Amino acid sequence: MAMIFVTHDLGVIADVADDVVVMYASQIVEHAPAKELFKRPRHPYTEGLLASIPQRTPAGEPLHFIPGMVPRPDQFSEGCHFSPRCQYAEEQCSVAPIELRGPSQSPAHHPGTATTSPEALTRCLRQDELELVGAGSEAAARSPGLGPGPTELAPSEPLLQTVALSKQFELRSGVFRRVHGSVKAVDAVDLRVMAGTTLGLVGESGSGKSTLARLVLRLMEPTSGTVTLDGSDITALRGPSLRRNRQKMQMVFQDPFSSLDPLQTVSEIVGEPLRIHTDLKAAERERRVVELLRQVGLRRHILDRQPHEFSGGQRQRIAIARALALHPQLLVCDEPVSALDMSTQSQVINLFSELQDRLGLAYLFIAHDLSVVRHLSDRIAVMYLGKIVEEGLAEEVYLRPTHPYTLALLSAIPVPDPEVQRKRRRIVLKGEVKVDETAMGGCRFRSRCPFAMEICSSVDPEPYRTRAGTTVRCHLHTSGPNLAGETVARLGG
Ligand SMILES: Nc1ncnc2c1ncn2[C@@H]1O[C@H](COP(=O)(O)OP(=O)(O)O)[C@@H](O)[C@H]1O
Ligand code: SF4
Ligand SMILES: [Mg+2]
Repeated sequence: MAMIFVTHDLGVIADVADDVVVMYASQIVEHAPAKELFKRPRHPYTEGLLASIPQRTPAGEPLHFIPGMVPRPDQFSEGCHFSPRCQYAEEQCSVAPIELRGPSQSPAHHPGTATTSPEALTRCLRQDELELVGAGSEAAARSPGLGPGPTELAPSEPLLQTVALSKQFELRSGVFRRVHGSVKAVDAVDLRVMAGTTLGLVGESGSGKSTLARLVLRLMEPTSGTVTLDGSDITALRGPSLRRNRQKMQMVFQDPFSSLDPLQTVSEIVGEPLRIHTDLKAAERERRVVELLRQVGLRRHILDRQPHEFSGGQRQRIAIARALALHPQLLVCDEPVSALDMSTQSQVINLFSELQDRLGLAYLFIAHDLSVVRHLSDRIAVMYLGKIVEEGLAEEVYLRPTHPYTLALLSAIPVPDPEVQRKRRRIVLKGEVKVDETAMGGCRFRSRCPFAMEICSSVDPEPYRTRAGTTVRCHLHTSGPNLAGETVARLGG
């Protein structure tokens, strides 16, 4: 069966595609066999996309992105649509339409085309002279594996702390919505986020991440447990003191297309928290809105525009500006880059980093992709069916996972090189997250765990603390192979 797979995820392309078509601003800019395209891109836009893959940048460094954004159709250049953003553009690139063609037949004109197959097509005037950089071995070398261990952060008082935080939902079905069970969406979660640092929270869909985020912000009442923010137990607060404390933390949502009111202008969206929670006069409010927009890289001429006039990345910037309006100390970000393409995702992640450096913000940063959270996070917590199954320093969790679920999540991160990706041995998890397992005893991951032992079906694993400061819930550290804190990658899959 033939398949056309449309995605902005280059890792998925590396995994499944034989041929790749790259589109930019309504045009095909490159069409080539997948292996060739990743190794030796021939269009500068493809090169820029490959460079934006998070795994290609060492943790802690700013991610690469393509400056500028895709133009509107009425703003396309006469020649190459990519020319205004292209670092290799010359004058003639924007003069006349450029055809999609194969490499030049003259050897003198294509010094680096020895590996280019004749069927590869590119829409670039300079394709025969440019030597562009691919994603190949560099990216493969940075896939999860063994690496140097960083030192642990100095302990201090956390800005945010949850203790035994739990939320149970009733499961209902049928016409009369009868209760037929319950799910522990968040089950006795203990987390700490230090001021000015990032805790990355990862897990598959249905793990309980969004519920945990809502509990932290007290948008939902917990079944039990506490949330302490800056020394105050916000689960016990009511009325004005709750409102005051809530201002210290704000949320940024996944979908910038639906989280902004389509009928409001940018000025109203960003200024709304100021109107509700401060006494600022209209002129002062506008000054502050302009300042907030500047902080996220936007300018005042957009004040009267509405959300539909912006791209996904710009809308997310507007949402971040609004979240910053009341000088929060903590941003709870629920999958804020999942809906964005790779280059835009890199821009927004870099913006989060810059804002953290400049404003000393702390983040609870939720994502389902470990390669994304690794870039921003000081620590990473891995959640499965309501429980935090592993929590530790970001590099430690990424390079030396101690829980089988973390190992499976890491092995699911595609390596952006079709040759390496297709040879990798991956842990494919059987089944999906099953909510009814939260009600049974034993380890919740056991039905999908490749290493499950007898004890796993009857005894819920207690937290085990490794020498590197990781806390893990898995019997493998105390029974069977007795890993005693060593990486579970030792066991293979
Ligand atoms: N309001 C609700 N009522 C009942 N069940 C819910 C509700 N919100 C979430 N759940 C359930 O809680 C579990 C965790 O959901 P969620 O927190 O959205 O996970 P994630 O964000 O990791 O995808 C899921 O099984 C979901 O169906
Ligand atoms: S406790 Fe058992 S089932 Fe659970 S993750 Fe560890 S080995 Fe697997
Ligand atoms: Mg969610």
